[in-house]
Amino acid sequence: GKKEKEEALISEEEKLSLKVQATISFQKHFQAKHNDIVIASLPKSGTTWLKALAFATVKRHRFIPSSQNHPLLNSNSHTIVPYFEFNIYGGEDNVIPDLSTIPEPRIFGTHIPFPSLSHSIHNSNCKIMYICRNPFDAFISHWHFFKTILPSSVTFSLEEAFEWYCEGTHFFGPFWSNILGYWEASKDTPNKILFLKYEELKANTNFELKKIAQFLDCPFSEEEESGGVIDSIIELCSFKKMKELEINKSGKAVQFVENKHLFRKGEIGDWVNYFSPSMTEKLSKVIEEKFGGSDFSF
Ligand code: PPS
Repeated sequence: GKKEKEEALISEEEKLSLKVQATISFQKHFQAKHNDIVIASLPKSGTTWLKALAFATVKRHRFIPSSQNHPLLNSNSHTIVPYFEFNIYGGEDNVIPDLSTIPEPRIFGTHIPFPSLSHSIHNSNCKIMYICRNPFDAFISHWHFFKTILPSSVTFSLEEAFEWYCEGTHFFGPFWSNILGYWEASKDTPNKILFLKYEELKANTNFELKKIAQFLDCPFSEEEESGGVIDSIIELCSFKKMKELEINKSGKAVQFVENKHLFRKGEIGDWVNYFSPSMTEKLSKVIEEKFGGSDFSF
């Protein structure tokens, strides 16, 4: 009933205010090291995947990608590569964790916009990889995700959610400013920020992964390439492989989210199954309006 819906919404609001506190705590306390790696993104853009690829690549000498004991087979990638705002600083107890003992290079994740990252990230030599996804698929992925994770008493239609999305109501958004913030920064400091696209990563994973390894100062040797190391990493992090792991069928790596909801379809172009012609026209217009003045294109 109405009361139930109101209560559910209040609890969503409480969660949101926890996120704001977590972000402030992160900005205040996080001390970047020169060799840290930060995986940045908007939600539903391929974060779970890129975290896995980055970890498997950077730690490949410590953890053999084809090993049956690889950490990514036993833990969700968000446990291995925690989010600043959900996992590290997002605890309800507000404890400031000691991150100094995490094996280097440390890898973290975040959805926080570029200008709001901690000063020490801006001022250190640490590296940032940003992954973006086309807004059509990203919206549909969000829509399914929120329908699944929000209490059933919180209901909204696809059309309603679409209006919010086009208006810029978006976690860590509006989506255009989050994307453009990292895009412009990546042009200014290409050695610090690598800008990636879900669609390119999907279409040419091998090529993109080599680019990632190069950027992270651990390029694959010819021997590794011919020895199948790249292929093993791609296989280990593939949608099918990750979705079918026991650890991803149960458990929660991120507050409020069951691991199984992080793996839905993992495809490009699913939006065509949901968009009406007028929705397509409207989102295309928003994109033209917000990105038209930049040299960015999806
Ligand atoms: S989150 O909640 O922000 O961490 O979500 P995120 O991981 O950014 O995005 C979830 C979408 O990515 C798909 N996914 C993958 N695609 C390719 N390969 C792998 N390994 C992979 N893992 C997750 C996931 O299915 C979501 O997209 P949709 O379109 O909803 O399937």
